[in-house]
Amino acid sequence: MSKITIAIDGFSSTGKSTLAKQLAKELNYVYVDTGAMYRAITLFAMRNNFIGSGEERLEDLVKLLPRIKLKFVPNPKLGFAEMYLNDENVEKQIRTMQVSKYVSRIAELEQVRYMLVEMQKTMGKEKGIVMDGRDIGTVVFPDAELKIFMTASPQARATRRYKELLDRGEEVSYEDVLENVQKRDFIDSHREFSPLRKADNAIEFDNSDMGLKEQFERLLSIADRCIEKV
Ligand code: DC
Repeated sequence: MSKITIAIDGFSSTGKSTLAKQLAKELNYVYVDTGAMYRAITLFAMRNNFIGSGEERLEDLVKLLPRIKLKFVPNPKLGFAEMYLNDENVEKQIRTMQVSKYVSRIAELEQVRYMLVEMQKTMGKEKGIVMDGRDIGTVVFPDAELKIFMTASPQARATRRYKELLDRGEEVSYEDVLENVQKRDFIDSHREFSPLRKADNAIEFDNSDMGLKEQFERLLSIADRCIEKV
């Protein structure tokens, strides 16, 4: 059976990655979380004091971009690939509130976007891929056979994210998480280079009041129909 490309875009904390991961597993496709790539560059920028410690020095980050090595390494125990930054597993470090605070600033940079989009295009050359992010259906794979655009109310998303962070032992307040979600929505959809927007031919999926099982079943049946047509 022919393999297709599945692009899943949408606002932060809409559960894109959970769903994309499940779908990739079911179809035996590769899963790529592009947010992890933007987060890893942000972690690198924070560690080098280019952002998050007073004065921003983003031009210095841009100069060092060619020296940043990003890699997804499969973890068979977890069933998905983890993000490595210059050979260090940073899967945990890139999910903190601190990284979430600065990642939209880093994701606005044209040179960062250019570098990551090129890497993502290469990863999808063979098709058989589920990729999630903000610009997958619009910029990375404009010809993807299936495009999904996920939304949910900011409150529903902040509640999910808040629980996730508490489960990981981070001390955060719900108000801070809600503010971060709304701020990122704004920056992600108003930036100059490849802003977050629904691709014209994407299927919109509002999951504010939908459980995971229902979302997965719906999405899988959409994907199956799409694969049959190819
Ligand atoms: O999916 P996420 O919340 O982990 O993504 C983190 C940030 O990275 C998000 O606020 C916007 C940015 N991002 C992007 O600009 N383009 C992508 N394809 C993926 C993420």
